[in-house]
Amino acid sequence: MTIKAAILGFGTVGQGIYEILQTKRRQLHKLIGDKVEVTSILVHNVHKERFLPDNVIVTDRFDDVLNQKPDVIFEATVGIEPSYSYLKQAIDQHIHVVTANKVMFAACGHKLIQRAEQRIGVGYEATTAAGIPIIGTLTTLLQTNNITKVQGILNGTSNYILTAMQDQNKTFSEALQEAQTKGYAEADPTNDIEGHDAFYKLMILSQLLYEKQPDWSAVSLTGISNLNETDLISAEEKGEKIRHVATLELVDGELKGTVEPLFLPPSHGLFGIEGVDNAISVTGDLVGSVTLRGPGAGQLPTASAMIEDFVQIWQTTPAKQFI
Ligand code: HSE
Repeated sequence: MTIKAAILGFGTVGQGIYEILQTKRRQLHKLIGDKVEVTSILVHNVHKERFLPDNVIVTDRFDDVLNQKPDVIFEATVGIEPSYSYLKQAIDQHIHVVTANKVMFAACGHKLIQRAEQRIGVGYEATTAAGIPIIGTLTTLLQTNNITKVQGILNGTSNYILTAMQDQNKTFSEALQEAQTKGYAEADPTNDIEGHDAFYKLMILSQLLYEKQPDWSAVSLTGISNLNETDLISAEEKGEKIRHVATLELVDGELKGTVEPLFLPPSHGLFGIEGVDNAISVTGDLVGSVTLRGPGAGQLPTASAMIEDFVQIWQTTPAKQFI
């Protein structure tokens, strides 16, 4: 059979998914035993010039996507709605879903997972730290450990900006512009530089690890936009680096979260995380502290996480006719 795929959103990440589905065609066939064809792509502006084969339907109506009866939907849009409603409908029609949408998943991911009842795949590796396989590691390889603390650099754009300002004497706006050109920043980079993006990722990890999240308003949240020259000089004088760090800790059964710029000494595990890289340290009662590091944003790392999710889902979830 041919697996029919739909892509919602054809920006940086959506195009990355399309590209990987073409370039890895043979390898995917070998891994999942079937060919994968993109049959529809949902966009805002259907009139924009795109170089796609005629058999790919480009539409601004989600119904057109559903009418193609896709087997999997890759969702690469932003914002809670209409994404959440679309994915609910997809799950109800037994379509596997793979998303990179952090805002939506932090707020509604648990409801999608519940709705899917383990019969339909819900992949969300790409929501958190792009290319770092943190969701897969926690769900499959650290299940017996009680995780008491998670700390990480969870926004690639902020880390890129901080590194460029501290190591290359770039201004904030120069560094931000570079991050935008390289496809790391969100279309509206406010979420990146004000810390919201890292916050959503921390909430996704919280939900996964503890099946709950701290009260959002109780999480102390500060971005990097207010850092000034004095902060940079002060860090340099002390031999420290400023990094934007998200922390979630279980203290006396209570979840405490903070998302803020910190001055890190060289001895800190996140001191050397540079450029667009992210890193996440988890502390488990059996394993101790484990740190994963890798690209935290970018077209191929993010799309890579989505394709790997899809392969995993296809290999492990019952085929449609048995649902
Ligand atoms: N804008 C995000 C970042 C993309 O810079 O981390 C990956 O989630």
